[in-house]
Amino acid sequence: MRTQVGIVGAGPAGLLLSHLLALRGIDSVVVEIRSRAYCEARQRAGVLEDGSVRLLREAGLGGRLDREGLEHGGIYLQFAGERRHLDFRDLTGGRTVTVYAQTEVVKDLIAQRLADGGSIEFEAPVTAVAGLDSGRPVLAYTATGGRRQELACDVIAGCDGFHGICRPAIPPGLLTVTERDYPYAWLGILAGVPPSTDELIYCHHSDGFALHSLRTPHLSKLYFQVGSDEKIEDWPDRRIWDTLQRRFALPGWELKEGPVLDKGITPMRSFVSAPMRYGRLFLAGDAAHIVPPTGAKGLNLALADVTILADALEAFLLRGDERPAEAYSATCLARVWRATHFSWWMTSMLHRTPGADPMEAALQLAQLRYVTISRAAATSLAENYVGYPPLR
Ligand code: FAD
Ligand code: DHB
Repeated sequence: MRTQVGIVGAGPAGLLLSHLLALRGIDSVVVEIRSRAYCEARQRAGVLEDGSVRLLREAGLGGRLDREGLEHGGIYLQFAGERRHLDFRDLTGGRTVTVYAQTEVVKDLIAQRLADGGSIEFEAPVTAVAGLDSGRPVLAYTATGGRRQELACDVIAGCDGFHGICRPAIPPGLLTVTERDYPYAWLGILAGVPPSTDELIYCHHSDGFALHSLRTPHLSKLYFQVGSDEKIEDWPDRRIWDTLQRRFALPGWELKEGPVLDKGITPMRSFVSAPMRYGRLFLAGDAAHIVPPTGAKGLNLALADVTILADALEAFLLRGDERPAEAYSATCLARVWRATHFSWWMTSMLHRTPGADPMEAALQLAQLRYVTISRAAATSLAENYVGYPPLR
């Protein structure tokens, strides 16, 4: 079997890359270890930068996003018993974010690829990528029924997430990894209750961070900081709601409760592996970098990487021009490092480090006051949150 671009992973990065390549007349095959149902149900991110929305629209994927996505023009920061609004439209010249769950982005992409005759192999673990420093890389996978398949490619795109096999296929010593683990995690729930807020609430509390997000007018998404060794089995729904009630408590405001439809614990990590290319292997999305979720950047970075990669592969495969492919890693990493800094900064400002001295909370509160009082500081937060630099 042969294709121009073998894509490992049917997450947002792999699926969007396959679609963008098809728009350019380039053939690809996506190989994914999980089932279609699993990929479409995996609960993850929910906030799209305006550049990501524009990109999806321009790629013909704006239909349901425009009908069901919820445009948000700001966020609330809650700290020291107050809730302050940051107005992104005012601060950034009209820019916004859109709440549209990653599950929906993935469903739209899978539906579009299949409608266009695209090739996605589900339940097919990629076992090896080889020949990366040759002109003919090969992607080996186990197809349904246990058949071993080899896919000869011009290029392989490693879109297989943080735990994938592509990054480890790069010879040791060639990658520089910069990483930090945070001493806490997020417990996230999807709740069958209308949101208790019109905009997302990022909440600093002496017990730890909490976030009120949403999915639809009838579904809320809430997160709060827990210890990094916490187990979800120790968090019955009542304990979750009690924790959320305590952290968000504000006189005159009520947090509405409802059935918990999904719950899970996410570790917090900053991780950048560079360069994002080795020979004919290009890494994109979580395969190359991870940010803690506080800045809502992970999904947006994945979409940005593959937009740059699609242009680079078009130049390389259709015109023999390798310059954009040579610039791919550096082009992506400029954005990745901006988002890595912003996500670290938001995380450090809002979370309680176990065992921290009183100085930590005092500095956090000083910073939170500054970003809600100074227009310059608020503008910096806002332009990073809606997406800096703009994607196009
Ligand atoms: P992924 O979505 O991870 O896709 C990789 C795909 O590769 C997966 O489908 C995987 O099954 C497949 N794969 C892996 N190995 C193989 C193999 N050997 N063979 C074939 N296929 C393989 N970001 C936010 O902005 N906000 C959030 O709240 C948020 N929450 C998150 C919660 C969790 C639990 C996780 C893990 C991430 C979260 N993120 C969040 C980050 C965001 O979801 C990711 O940045 C985004 O999914 C990256 O997309 P991707 O396509 O690069 O990787
Ligand atoms: C969501 C996740 C985030 O990490 C964030 O910062 C904002 C919103 C969400 O899942 O809705």
